[in-house]
Amino acid sequence: MASILRSACNFSVFLGKFVFSMLESLVFTAVPRRRKNVAGEIVLITGAGSGLGRLLALKFARLGSVLVLWDINKEGNEETLRLAREAGAAQVHAYTCDCSRKEEVYRVADQVKKEVGDVSILINNAGIVTGKKFLSCPDGLMEKSFDVNFKAHLWTYKAFLPAMLAENHGHLVCISSAAGLVGINGLADYCASKFAAFGFAESVLVELFGQKKGGIKTTIVCPFFINTGMFDGCSTGFPLLLPILEPEYAANKIVDAILQEQVYLYMPRFLYIVMILKSLLPTKTAQLVLEYMGGLNLMDHFVGQKKIN
Ligand SMILES: NC(=O)c1ccc[n+]([C@@H]2O[C@H](COP(=O)([O-])OP(=O)(O)OC[C@H]3O[C@@H](n4cnc5c(N)ncnc54)[C@H](O)[C@@H]3O)[C@@H](O)[C@H]2O)c1
Repeated sequence: MASILRSACNFSVFLGKFVFSMLESLVFTAVPRRRKNVAGEIVLITGAGSGLGRLLALKFARLGSVLVLWDINKEGNEETLRLAREAGAAQVHAYTCDCSRKEEVYRVADQVKKEVGDVSILINNAGIVTGKKFLSCPDGLMEKSFDVNFKAHLWTYKAFLPAMLAENHGHLVCISSAAGLVGINGLADYCASKFAAFGFAESVLVELFGQKKGGIKTTIVCPFFINTGMFDGCSTGFPLLLPILEPEYAANKIVDAILQEQVYLYMPRFLYIVMILKSLLPTKTAQLVLEYMGGLNLMDHFVGQKKIN
């Protein structure tokens, strides 16, 4: 009898929380959440030396955050530092760091902790793309994709999460990709690394939920092509539904998602429909849709970055 009562009680509590969370989510679909204040927060951005990373740095500079910029490209990173100061950043620190090297990540992370303090918003943004078909991609380049696009996230979390846990305060941001949601022709190693980054960030999110560390937020970002140069030469077969995104637009959406503590951000919105179709449609039908939408030829004219670090 007691165990039936306990089960009924547990179920009622679960039901109450379930209904509340559904209502809360419905309300926040209609009324945007209040944006959190990030002034004074220590924001670390990897790959801050160009593209999206630079734009994110400038936006957090305007929001009054303390900036820690990491990039393998010293020159690009110094330029971001200069622009961030111009944008009004009170404190900016640039560090040259090859995020693909675990020991280097740990060493520079220790330096940041000593010189700046505990990072409270960690944005894993550094990324590379090889853009080669699987069998013509040299092993070393495939390994590099994993080292930069995924494994660097492990080492940065290891370095900065403990302090966030101690304070039950922080935000972990994973810049994955649409290629972290669906497999793409000619992007096997990139897709695999971005799926890994997504899965890792989502697993830690669940781990934090299990540990009742609700003060540490997660945002996982999956954009389609952005016009930063990384995917130069690539095209979209369906610009109406899957347009190539402007960097400024993408950076604004990412900052908004962080400030509103949104967990998943897929850009453009049509990617949410893609995910539903992927789950519901028979595989052969889904592949026909992909082919019809030009999804097999996205990488045909890839030029990409001039140099892969
Ligand atoms: N551009 C797109 O179409 C697109 C689409 C989806 C996701 N993304 C992701 O967005 C992120 C930013 O890309 P972007 O478009 O700004 O490209 P980008 O090439 O302009 O920026 C990437 C930055 O990462 C840095 N970097 C590369 N290897 C590094 C290493 N080992 N250590 C430290 N820094 C390193 C580069 O120097 C560069 O500054 C990447 O993770 C990318 O995969 C980009």
